[in-house]
This record gives sequence, C-alpha cells and structure tokens, in this order.
Amino acid sequence: MAYVVSVVNQKGGVGKTTVCRNLASLLSKHGKKILLIDFDPQESLSLYTGAVKKRFDEDTPSMYHVLSGQIHIDDAIINMDEFDLVRSDYRLYSYNGTPLITENEARELLGNPEAMYKHIVHALEQKSNPETDDRHRLSREIARITDYYDFILIDVNPNLGPLTVLGLLAAPVTNVLIPAFPEESSRQSVFALADTIETLLANDFDQQINILGILISRYEKNNISKKYLEFFSQLAENMGTIMFKTMIPKSVLVPESIALKQSIFDRRNNAPIIDRYEEFCKEFLQRIEELN
Ligand SMILES: Nc1ncnc2c1ncn2[C@@H]1O[C@H](COP(=O)(O)OP(=O)(O)OP(=O)(O)O)[C@@H](O)[C@H]1O
Ligand SMILES: [Mg+2]
Repeated sequence: MAYVVSVVNQKGGVGKTTVCRNLASLLSKHGKKILLIDFDPQESLSLYTGAVKKRFDEDTPSMYHVLSGQIHIDDAIINMDEFDLVRSDYRLYSYNGTPLITENEARELLGNPEAMYKHIVHALEQKSNPETDDRHRLSREIARITDYYDFILIDVNPNLGPLTVLGLLAAPVTNVLIPAFPEESSRQSVFALADTIETLLANDFDQQINILGILISRYEKNNISKKYLEFFSQLAENMGTIMFKTMIPKSVLVPESIALKQSIFDRRNNAPIIDRYEEFCKEFLQRIEELN
C-alpha cells in the first residue's frame, strides 16, 4: 500500500512543485513505484513533467473530472517513464466543494420554494454522507489505486482553501511534507499552515495527518538563512515535527530543468544539489517509516 504524501504550503513559490517532481524521479531511481497527483490549478507539475503540453485543456481526464465524480482516478492516470501522473485542470480554481445548489438548478427551482427547500435539505444530507462527501470521494479514489504504488505524491495548490484541506485529508493516513524557503514570507505561511493542521486534527478523528517535517529549499549559506533556520527548527519543534537536516541548496539546475521539462538528475549526475537530494531522500524514507 502506498504512502500518501501531500506537499503543502499555502505560500506560493516555495519549492513545492520542484520537490515533488525531483523527489519522484529520485524515488523512482531507487526502484519505487510513484504516482504524482497535480492538485494545483496552475498545472505547474503537469507541465514541468512534460505530461501536459498545453494548459486549459478541458478534455483530457484530470483531477477536476475525478473530484466532480465524472470519472474514476484510474482513468486519469498518465503513464510516463519514471512515474505515473494525474494531471490538474485550471477549473480546479473554482473548486469550492460540491455546491448545495448549482446556478442552473436554482434558476429552475426559483418559482417553487418547496422544491427548492427539499433540494437543499437533500444536498445537505449528501454533504454529511461519507458516500458522497468530496473528502471521502478523494480518499476513496486514492484507495482504488494505492496498491499499485509505493508513494503517491500530491502537489497541493498554494492557498488555505478547500483544495488544501482535501490535500491534507487525501487518505486515511496523509503524510505532509512542508517545503519552505529561508525567508520571511515563508515563515509567516508555515505559522498559518500549522494552525490549519491543528484545527483539522481537532475535527477529523477518522483521518490521520503525519507531519513529516519542514524541508528548507533554495538554501544559501549566509547570516539571514541562519536566522531562519533557527526559526524553522523551533517552529517544527512546536508543531511536534522536525526540520529535515538536509537542506536543498540554491542551484541554477532547478530553473534550467524546469525550462527543459526534465528532472535535475536528467541534467547532471554531479552537483551539490544532487548530493543533497540523495541525502534528503534517505532522511525522507527513514522519517516516513518511523511515522507509519
Ligand atoms: N533549489 C532551488 N534553487 C534555485 N531555484 C529554486 C530552487 N527550488 C525552487 N526554485 C525556484 O523557485 C521557484 C518556485 O519553485 P516551485 O515552483 O517549485 O514553487 P511552488 O511552491 O510549487 O510554487 P507555487 O506555489 O506557485 O506552486 C521556481 O522558479 C524555481 O525555479
Ligand atoms: Mg507549484
């Protein structure tokens, strides 16, 4: 059964997609079977992996179709050399959970208050029903395919809205990896994320969230970074988790590899960032086994 790992930070541009993509390649090189799920309507991961050639494609099966119950996740899997991937869809921007009433339904029922009332009561019942609730739908969809993979890595979009909440509760046990850059805006966002996770943990007793830890990326050795490392390490401790000992250094291989739709390992097999990824991968595997 796969470990489900959600890569989460509501701050944009802190290395989520980069880590998802390169960790997937590395785990695959270590013989693990990987599924990537792009859960970000920006479609960055789908594009970075080369799985999707153009944005705004509404037809190719995506997480949008899965979440809206149109298809099963099995039918949205794109097979690639190193891993499989389920693509995102820009329409996930408007994802706000299943609405109680759609615009069309409301228009139809406008002159009939009794039918409108019945419709809304029915929708409320559906919402509280595990069979039809979105959270359980996602969890159920992932459960269909979990036996085929060692790891399912989910690239979650940068905000604290309903998609992030779903991402945090994607499986009966969701492992959360929090990438951060050693800078002020990143600091603020992890605070807020810690709050959200705490609230979820207090409310959802049927699902478990393991916070794997905070991974520092785009690290440069200087006094400012040092200050933030101390901060993140303390924050991790307060959250009951760790800051990974390995930090991913700043490297031009990252923007280069994104531009060429390759992993950093396709670009070079020898660079400080490559060694650090290997070290991080070891720590990651140890940590996930410890917590599960
Ligand atoms: N180790 C690194 N060295 C240099 N640049 C990096 C590194 N990691 C990430 N970056 C750069 O930082 C930017 C943001 O990275 P990435 O897209 O992975 O962040 P993200 O958190 O997924 O962003 P978003 O929230 O928009 O989805 C990218 O332009 C990437 O090139
Ligand atoms: Mg991203």
